[in-house]
Amino acid sequence: MKALSTGLVAATLALTGAAQAQDVIKVGVIAPMTGPQAASGQQIMAGAKLYQQLNGTKVGNKTIELIFKDDTGVPDVTRRLAQELIVNDKVAVISGFGLTPLALAVGPVITQAKVPAVIMVAGTSMIVGTSPYFVRVSFTLPQNTAPVAQWAVENGVKSAVSLFSDYGPGLDAAAAFKKRLEAGGGKVMQELKAPLADPDFAPFLQRAKDAKPDALFLFVPAPTAGALMKQVVDRGIPQSGIKVIGPGDVTDDDQLNGMGDGVLGMVTSYNYSAAHDSPENKKFVEEFKKANNGRRPNVIGVGGYDGIHAIYKAIEKNGGNTDGTKLIEAFKGLSWVSPRGPVSIDPETRDIVQNVYVRKVEKKDGELYNVEFKTYENQKDPK
Ligand code: PHB
Repeated sequence: MKALSTGLVAATLALTGAAQAQDVIKVGVIAPMTGPQAASGQQIMAGAKLYQQLNGTKVGNKTIELIFKDDTGVPDVTRRLAQELIVNDKVAVISGFGLTPLALAVGPVITQAKVPAVIMVAGTSMIVGTSPYFVRVSFTLPQNTAPVAQWAVENGVKSAVSLFSDYGPGLDAAAAFKKRLEAGGGKVMQELKAPLADPDFAPFLQRAKDAKPDALFLFVPAPTAGALMKQVVDRGIPQSGIKVIGPGDVTDDDQLNGMGDGVLGMVTSYNYSAAHDSPENKKFVEEFKKANNGRRPNVIGVGGYDGIHAIYKAIEKNGGNTDGTKLIEAFKGLSWVSPRGPVSIDPETRDIVQNVYVRKVEKKDGELYNVEFKTYENQKDPK
């Protein structure tokens, strides 16, 4: 009798387990949570968790379970974690990718496994084209850079020096800037490339200052912006009459207050500002701060939040079917109102279409903010 009841209990448990497994859809989130890009992983995780906190874990009758993994910012680790999540955990989707090389590392894995990957940060234009299973909710550097280049043309910038991290997004940003500036009659005098790992910006900034350009165009990945801008300010470059500009990565909302008043007046263009004036963003910023000891969300936090939103909506559109080839189709053409403004996924390219705003650093209630003053609507990657 005892043996029988134990057997029954075991069978019941096994059944419950199987039923549960079918009701749970697992989503991998891979990002640098430690190392020099740790701020990226922290923002992604905070944004993704906040989405579930505010919207619940259910899509129809399925429970969405997020599995977070720290790739420490090393591409080989990203690739291994992607493989483990797909093979062992049987995730329906992977997401995250705090740097371009980390996203590129998973391309062959997702193509072979036919599992969609949602890019929440990486911004080099060509990434999404390297696998039919990539979809991007972040931005591209040419998309975010073109408006500030246009602003430079319209504000009398005839000569510029570009200083940027020497990898995909830096090269993309510098090329987009040069194209627009030179089409407007200006000239890029020098292009200075700083290494991505452990950069010493001092010699580059000295050369840039000595060249006396009208503008200094800057790009580094957002988590590196504080280190760069501190040196820009310490050298008095904004005060020397050189307009310091770039895509908004360099006035990253997460670190802006630490850069000091030397960045007041700095103009950048970007897809997200914590100061974006909309009811959706007010709620997002308030709830994000509440859940993260007052920390301000940045473009990466909103990428984590929107990435999970897109995954929910794609699963919902497919009625809970998580076949990878069907799921990637469901991302195409999604549109929603993000804290950054209206966005959609281009069905042709699987890349994000969104507003890009021109902003100026201003002080409000004792804090520095990127205050938007001009909007370029529904921008695609300009390719
Ligand atoms: C990238 O590596 O693609 C990247 C990372 C952070 C940024 C922008 C681009 O802020």
